[in-house]
Amino acid sequence: MIQKIYRLGDDVLRKSSEPVTQIDDSIRQLAKDMFETMYKANGVGLAAPQIGRNIRLVTIDVESNPIILINPEIKKSVGKDTAEEGCLSVPGLREKVQRANKVIAFAIDLEGNTIEITAEGLMARAIQHEIDHLEGILFIDRISKARKIQIKRELEMIQAGENIQRSDDEEE
Ligand code: NI
Repeated sequence: MIQKIYRLGDDVLRKSSEPVTQIDDSIRQLAKDMFETMYKANGVGLAAPQIGRNIRLVTIDVESNPIILINPEIKKSVGKDTAEEGCLSVPGLREKVQRANKVIAFAIDLEGNTIEITAEGLMARAIQHEIDHLEGILFIDRISKARKIQIKRELEMIQAGENIQRSDDEEE
């Protein structure tokens, strides 16, 4: 079922999320709901807090390769890359964010298996962005203070539930 996407200003986005301790029907349903919600909103990534659940569960689909990451952790980060990023919880806004260019991450899949993912570019960016959500971090926390002051009005509008339209690119 498609779920409501929480926005900047909602407390659930600012909390540290709890690890998944048991993969049961409720977790499988949550993952299914997250994919439906993410695709409906034309997103390439979604973290459970964005639909109001402080659980360490992430869905990503970069280039038609859907993956579910349970309790994901980045084990290694390599290099630097700066690119524009957006977020379904900060609609309409895209800003340049510096991230690692390559990451090696571990997670558990829906079958309970530990998986290792080596990712670069957009996929690496999506993994870092979504894991940030599990710690209550939003991409706007990673832009410069000066830039944050410049876009203060837009951030206030998003928080107030108004729509700003700067771009219709993919969001995470
Ligand atoms: Ni996001």
